[in-house]
Amino acid sequence: MIDRPTPPPIPEALKRAREDFPILKREVSGKPLIYLDNAASTQKPQSVIDAITQYYAYENSNIHRGVHLLSTEATAAYENARTKLAAYLNANDESEIVFTRGATESINLVAHSFLAPLVSAGDEILISHMEHHANIVPWQLLCERTGAVLKVAPIFDNGDLDTDSYISLMGPRTKLAAIVHVSNSIGTVNPIERIIEAAKDRSIPTLIDSAQSIQHMKLDVQVLDCDFLVFSGHKMFMPTGIGGLYGKRAKLDSMRPYQGGGDMIAHVSFDGTTFKAPPYRFEAGTPHIAGGIGIAAGIDYIESIGRDLIHDYETQLIDYAANRLKSTAGVRLIGEPSNRAGAISFVMNAAHAHDIGTILDTEGIAVRSGHHCCEPLMKRFGISATARASIALYNNHEDIDALVESLGKVHQLFG
Ligand code: ALA
Repeated sequence: MIDRPTPPPIPEALKRAREDFPILKREVSGKPLIYLDNAASTQKPQSVIDAITQYYAYENSNIHRGVHLLSTEATAAYENARTKLAAYLNANDESEIVFTRGATESINLVAHSFLAPLVSAGDEILISHMEHHANIVPWQLLCERTGAVLKVAPIFDNGDLDTDSYISLMGPRTKLAAIVHVSNSIGTVNPIERIIEAAKDRSIPTLIDSAQSIQHMKLDVQVLDCDFLVFSGHKMFMPTGIGGLYGKRAKLDSMRPYQGGGDMIAHVSFDGTTFKAPPYRFEAGTPHIAGGIGIAAGIDYIESIGRDLIHDYETQLIDYAANRLKSTAGVRLIGEPSNRAGAISFVMNAAHAHDIGTILDTEGIAVRSGHHCCEPLMKRFGISATARASIALYNNHEDIDALVESLGKVHQLFG
């Protein structure tokens, strides 16, 4: 008989929070939905849904360019999101927050506007073996165009980064050190403080992919002192199609525009164009205004609960989940990092990851299965896919217990 770990107590604020997400009241396959696919996308609280509806119902208008009331209201609401994001990340100035479609577009923006003019054949871009494709492919495309070389730092068998190796790969030709903060696939929390420090010692700019950490822990870009940090709204209870790039103002000032169009120019003539200062220089065309308004509402929501409380609770819940899954017959964890947040990947001999996902769906349990946009990481572990459970503030130990019970059935039936 294996001892069950003790479930973490659920703080009152989080018990109530579950009620704020209307989708959590629905059923799937005739069972109450248990949503454990938060690394792919989190659910939205009613306050975020209401803020978006309010905008489309009563404030809908384009921003920055109109003098009428609706336009000035919409502009203020959209820019309020930038102000809130700057405070949320403790940026030095709100002009350091660029709205993009999400983490992927933010990385592409840095690749095109910051790095492309700085690299030539033989220069190096440093990443790790556990990156999401979004932090691999833009650099590969840049390497193809310029003859630069992508350097990949190894990881250990438990899924921890080999940080010494990562740092030892920083050399005189390294033009950027990019690293995921939390692995979307195996949940490893990387020691970004140490990496940023080492890069600064060598005058190497840094980019942090915080898509899977920003919803789980407090990030302070002035304390971290990274040059760039990228994130996606939809993974932090906000709408899809909007996210952002934090960039140090001096770096943003040095960068050419990523896309050309309306709203990013100072003056246009057929002889040439001058551009607005950052962040607007990087925001061509009509943006995702409702998305921005959703970001502001999402930040209010998270702050109303408290990021420290969310982090403390989730840390206990993910430990509970890892311990329970580890002692579930037939389940093998992929990656047992020394510091984990958000996600747990596993495989079973009894069923392929996709079949696990399908069977769990019949129990009302949503997990993701596949390579999680991390094919090189899967290859590193000698597998093609995992099933992945990933948590958010509204999950509790009963969700994990239901998952474990269903996996037990899979093992009994097919193992
Ligand atoms: N990057 C998202 C995930 O990990 C889609 O599922």
